[in-house]
Amino acid sequence: MPTKIKVTNNRYRLGYHLMTPGGWMNDPNGFCYFQGYYHVFYQYHPYSAEWGPMHWGHARSKDLVSWETLPIALTPGDPEDEDGCFSGSAVVKDDKLFLIYTGHHYYGDNDPDHFWQNQNLAYSTDGVHFTKYAHNPIIAKAPVDNTQHFRDPKVWQDNDHYYLVLGSQNQQGLGRVLLYRSDNLTDWTYLGPIAGAKDAQHEGFMWECPDLFNLNGQQVLLTSPQGIKATDKQYLNLYQTGYFIGQLDYHQPQLQYRTDFQELDHGHDFYATQTVLTPDGRRVVLGWMAMWESKMPEQADGWAGALTLPRELILKNQQLVMQPVREVAALRTKTLMDQQDTVNGVATFGEGLKQAEFKASLDLTATQQLKSTISLMNASQQAVVSLSFDQTTGNLVLQRADRPDARYAVTATDNDTLDLDIFVDTSSLEIFVNGGTVVFTERFYDDTAKSLRLQTDEAVTVTAKLFELDSQANRY
Ligand code: FRU
Repeated sequence: MPTKIKVTNNRYRLGYHLMTPGGWMNDPNGFCYFQGYYHVFYQYHPYSAEWGPMHWGHARSKDLVSWETLPIALTPGDPEDEDGCFSGSAVVKDDKLFLIYTGHHYYGDNDPDHFWQNQNLAYSTDGVHFTKYAHNPIIAKAPVDNTQHFRDPKVWQDNDHYYLVLGSQNQQGLGRVLLYRSDNLTDWTYLGPIAGAKDAQHEGFMWECPDLFNLNGQQVLLTSPQGIKATDKQYLNLYQTGYFIGQLDYHQPQLQYRTDFQELDHGHDFYATQTVLTPDGRRVVLGWMAMWESKMPEQADGWAGALTLPRELILKNQQLVMQPVREVAALRTKTLMDQQDTVNGVATFGEGLKQAEFKASLDLTATQQLKSTISLMNASQQAVVSLSFDQTTGNLVLQRADRPDARYAVTATDNDTLDLDIFVDTSSLEIFVNGGTVVFTERFYDDTAKSLRLQTDEAVTVTAKLFELDSQANRY
């Protein structure tokens, strides 16, 4: 047995985001609620800080904010998942927790494109120990018009049936989503493709990590297409995560879209989302707070990757809004500031910030053409990350000191306020603008003392609160 890698330096370790105890993490998997706990699994390589044969790491929480790491749930190496337990999801049936995941298999030479994929099942009665189903695989082969890209099952129950969607690529090289149905979770019938790219450049050559759910009587398809060509201000990450809103017809089967593909988050570090329905009916999403092929300086310290804060998804004007779940208020350990002031020029908030939430509302009723910038500053008073707002156009521009490429979004111009809810952690920043109608997710790597700075070119009334947040919300 190889030995698990250990964290050698805590400089970038996060205080309240889910991360591994050491080793590599990518996609969230199996996000579910079972016997009083939320469970989150994740793509995990415990033996190095690089991607490798995928295991399922595992953590659980009673409240979505303090997490307890559990033993590895799935280890690859059995005939049906020889080279990896890839992404998948969870469902509860008869008081058992079932995981459905992709088995990854290489063949032939060392060409990483020479692989095939199947779908497998594992189960648990206590939510801690998992047994792989003796008759795996449950879906042995992709449909004949598919390529080898055939992965990331997301399962749900609808009345007497279970359904799952799978990410795939058709023989024409277009990303798409396939629908399957089952009565027992072990025997699955292929119903057909329900959505897909019309052309690869605009909609992608492969759709990873699909998730399909109801929100206010409509269906949302959340997916992570690879290969969408960047425009000036959109699709700037290597791969995207976004959604379509429509109506699912199980019989056709087809998802009739009402909207085009829209990106869910505008930051550099957001991918491969998965949602859960909470017992009180909220739809909550987690994303991988990173991007394939980005630099991850924490790899030098024996770990890589983290998950975002859990965010509630709300449908508003045919758009998905993301708000930190209300449970995050429990992370507040101290109120550092609560004040209203006029800012005309520069104002600084906090000092030595590590885990913090900054909630600010800028009154736009008396400003004309406000230009403002909120920045996370380092000890040498340089901006590590900054977000600029232009009242005239609603343009938002996010810049990061360690990346030459900015990120862009537009917010409404007729609001009376600009509202910011900013979550700082040791090496991550999540900025919720105007109630989560625009969100930016970022990692940064500067371990000097931090503060926040607001710069305005007009006098503006700012109502601001600053909280210190829990630095030990993870136990492992
Ligand atoms: C998405 C993804 C999935 C796959 C997993 C492998 O980031 O590529 O499609 O199952 O990562 O780790």
